[in-house]
Amino acid sequence: MCGIVGYIGARQAQDVLVSGLSKLEYRGYDSAGVAIQSGGGIEVRKKAGKLANLAGELAAHPLSGTLGIGHTRWATHGLPNDTNAHPHATEDGKIVIIHNGIIENYLSLKAGLQSRGHVFKSETDSEVLAHLIEEKYGQVGSDLYEAVRLALGEVRGAYGIVVTHADHREIVAARTVSPLVLGVGEGELFLASDVPALLAYTRQVVFLHDGDMVVLGDDGFRITDLAGNALQRSIEQIDWDAEAAEKGGYDTYMLKEIYEQPTALTNTLIGRLNDDNGEVNLDINLDPASFKRISIIACGTAYYAGLVGEYLIEQLARIPVEVDVASEYRYREPIVSEETLAIVISQSGETIDTLEALREAKKYGAKTLGVINAKGSSMTRELDDTLYIHAGPEIGVASTKAYTSMVSAMLMLALWLARARGTLDETRARELLHAARELPRLVEEALAPARVENIKRVAEKYAHSRDYLFLGRGVNAPTALEGALKLKEISYIHAEGYAAGEMKHGPIALIDSDLPVVVVATESRLLEKTISNVQEVRARAGKVIALLSDGDTENAQHADDVIYVPRAHEMVSPVVNAVAMQLLAYFTATALGKDVDKPRNLAKSVTVE
Ligand code: F6R
Repeated sequence: MCGIVGYIGARQAQDVLVSGLSKLEYRGYDSAGVAIQSGGGIEVRKKAGKLANLAGELAAHPLSGTLGIGHTRWATHGLPNDTNAHPHATEDGKIVIIHNGIIENYLSLKAGLQSRGHVFKSETDSEVLAHLIEEKYGQVGSDLYEAVRLALGEVRGAYGIVVTHADHREIVAARTVSPLVLGVGEGELFLASDVPALLAYTRQVVFLHDGDMVVLGDDGFRITDLAGNALQRSIEQIDWDAEAAEKGGYDTYMLKEIYEQPTALTNTLIGRLNDDNGEVNLDINLDPASFKRISIIACGTAYYAGLVGEYLIEQLARIPVEVDVASEYRYREPIVSEETLAIVISQSGETIDTLEALREAKKYGAKTLGVINAKGSSMTRELDDTLYIHAGPEIGVASTKAYTSMVSAMLMLALWLARARGTLDETRARELLHAARELPRLVEEALAPARVENIKRVAEKYAHSRDYLFLGRGVNAPTALEGALKLKEISYIHAEGYAAGEMKHGPIALIDSDLPVVVVATESRLLEKTISNVQEVRARAGKVIALLSDGDTENAQHADDVIYVPRAHEMVSPVVNAVAMQLLAYFTATALGKDVDKPRNLAKSVTVE
């Protein structure tokens, strides 16, 4: 995540930066920093920890100047300390950059720069950008915009980048994946990674698109693409109040987070999968070949991500996996040894049941790995290693983007284990890596307006049902469980999720003409069997809502209502299908007038047993 603010105008930049960053702290709080042009140079101040640390220092020793850039960090590469905090400057202190995102090829770029004499101070991927821009700056006759443009041509990854140079009263910025908004005031300009940082100063904004560059000067701004062609982008008037702005203009945090999934997934996957050779680089300091069994432990939605993980790890890496709800694991005296890898999955990293289960696994000698969203959370301090999912802060109580990011992380773990254990050849690995890489695009497609409208229609049609049944098979059996959980927690409709083949062993008794049955029936080797279950529901007059892959008109005939989702490889389909489940739950709850962000009786992070 990370938050970015930039300013050029007549005000004291320090005030604008600190105020803007305070509105972006939700995007990261590992460290904060500012750089302000003053007296012919650039002064940088940065501090580990919350913004308050930096703000305190700036209040005691203010920086004077009317052009500046600021950052609040959510660490990816490098520890959250003062050195790794942004901004990063070149050795002569003339070029200063701030970066939000991940530079995938930073190691090779860094090696090249070091061989040409550049000396690095931090462990971050971002510092590479400062040195690369410096090199280009020397080559293009001191043109900062051109230097940034050429440097970005060599970079692979995600970035929102903001750059300034001591000799130019201008800010150059660019974005790919990571968001950036330009604020347009009277004789002043602003940059921020999100609208709330701008609202105290202006409501006129330009939302920059992927691949846009912008130059801010005292005489205005210009936007180009990365090839240098001028672009026209419209200035929009923001009429949200402060609360709506924090929700990005969406009605609720939950909806905002549902729509953030393409970006969250990009951040989960980026820099970790190499399509060229089928390798997975997760930066985990555990020997993947040393485990004889895996124990996955989690609660609620995270537990369902674990169930998908079980399927993927056993299929791909051929290691026995068991999945436990944490509250049970703690008390069932599990059989664990030093050859057990215990994987805990948690968005918050604070859920007490999962934390205690982690301690239990450690007590028995297991190696421990966390699949976690919240940096620095309690679990991360006790785990042997952590695979961060990088979904960004999740505020809506019902988990959405953290779930799809967790499932994607479990897929990467399965691939990592499989490659290390030799159970997956390169061709198949490349096929699966490619499928994973497609996820942000597929989820974007799953959120296309016509699809969302259709799900809303279905949700409203059945919103007054008393019960709901969700069915799915194989890797999508957990999708059915997650669909049922999402619906019950925000709409308060009673819902059951079942493996489709289990229906005939009991739940079939529930079926009558009042019962909507959501069947996950997207392309898979088990599709025919799932369709047989659909027939069983139909034969008892149940209402079938079928989740089908685009183009499946044949099976649509068996359904009362169809929700089409983009075609996806079976192994990644739980991510795409989950989005439809989230929307179905969401629109059911809103049709019933429920408060989806704060469902009754629930808390975002459950720290009691
Ligand atoms: C459901 C939901 C909860 C959490 C569970 C675990 O939408 O959000 O079921 O998944 O309480 O929380 P974390 O992942 O923070 O450990």
